[in-house]
Amino acid sequence: MPDNAVAPASVAEKIADIKERLAVPAFAAPMFLVSGPDLVIAACKAGVIGAFPTMNARPISALEEWFERITKELADAESANPGTTAPWAANIICHSTSKRFDEDFALLQQYKPEIVITALGSPKRVIKEVHDYGGLVFADVNSVTYAKKAVGAGADGLVLVSAGAGGHTGFVTGFAFVPAIRSFFDGPIILGGGIVDGAGIRAAEVLGADFGYLGTRFIATEESVAPESYRDMLVNATEEDIIQSAHFTGVPANYLKTSIIAAGLDPDTLKPRKDKSFDSRHDGPENNKAWKDIWSAGQGVRAVDKVQPVSALVKQLKAEYDIARAMP
Ligand SMILES: Cc1cc2nc3c(=O)[nH]c(=O)nc-3n(C[C@H](O)[C@H](O)[C@H](O)COP(=O)(O)O)c2cc1C
Repeated sequence: MPDNAVAPASVAEKIADIKERLAVPAFAAPMFLVSGPDLVIAACKAGVIGAFPTMNARPISALEEWFERITKELADAESANPGTTAPWAANIICHSTSKRFDEDFALLQQYKPEIVITALGSPKRVIKEVHDYGGLVFADVNSVTYAKKAVGAGADGLVLVSAGAGGHTGFVTGFAFVPAIRSFFDGPIILGGGIVDGAGIRAAEVLGADFGYLGTRFIATEESVAPESYRDMLVNATEEDIIQSAHFTGVPANYLKTSIIAAGLDPDTLKPRKDKSFDSRHDGPENNKAWKDIWSAGQGVRAVDKVQPVSALVKQLKAEYDIARAMP
């Protein structure tokens, strides 16, 4: 590095800077067929990190439009109110079966999201390039074994998907998961799985995490691209309506039983799928398209009591978080 060059910010400095820009230390977690640019932009403007899976934008030209729109609208928001716009994050599937990886990743490098969240595969595929442009790589993991591998591969932070999470769920409770990771990793930790309110976000911090990662709470927002009937089903559901199954993708995920019944299946007799398919939009068994027809939610679903704008939800999370933080 030349003598007069500014040293690149450390991971800790970047995290401190990001926290300064948030209303509440949380992510609107990326969700297949749920998160799009409206949700990401609204989340970042409201003060939580907005994230979306690149696979949600199809064809690839749509991904470019999404990246373009998100970067432009957030830059405008930031110049209108400096220091108040949260960063956005792109979620990329790193599994070897992902046909879109190369194209999506090439485009991602042009738009340089501050945070890249890797899922379903080693973060190794993206680390060098994301670091080269100054971004952070957070690896989504659901076990200590995967967490150690991700840290070994050079991930900057870990998204701990714990028991009760929507989507491809975790199995370890956050109460055990966070301390298990903290015993060998002092970088940023993001905890997901059943966090439903601001107190939960604060609880994640008390455990030793840096951010909460909320998916299910953001499905029933006006800006999500979830169909209205899905959002309504969430409003009426409780934890008893959630079933875990590996039937649709070959990997255990949490689903709304009612959506399985509506698709003509018996939730109690579903057998695990033998192969893995992470994009069952086109090839689910019995022609049901997981995520599109079979809807996912986590155990925190009872907290979803209405469809509301992202700004109102974040305002509520912040009020709850502030109360929890002020507790002696
Ligand atoms: C409908 C739905 C789709 C999801 N799709 C993805 C995805 O495409 N990529 C990913 O990394 N995580 C995905 N997730 C997991 C979330 O990012 C997050 O880990 C989880 O929702 C957190 O748990 P919670 O739902 O209890 O808040 C999905 C979750 C849901 C509910």
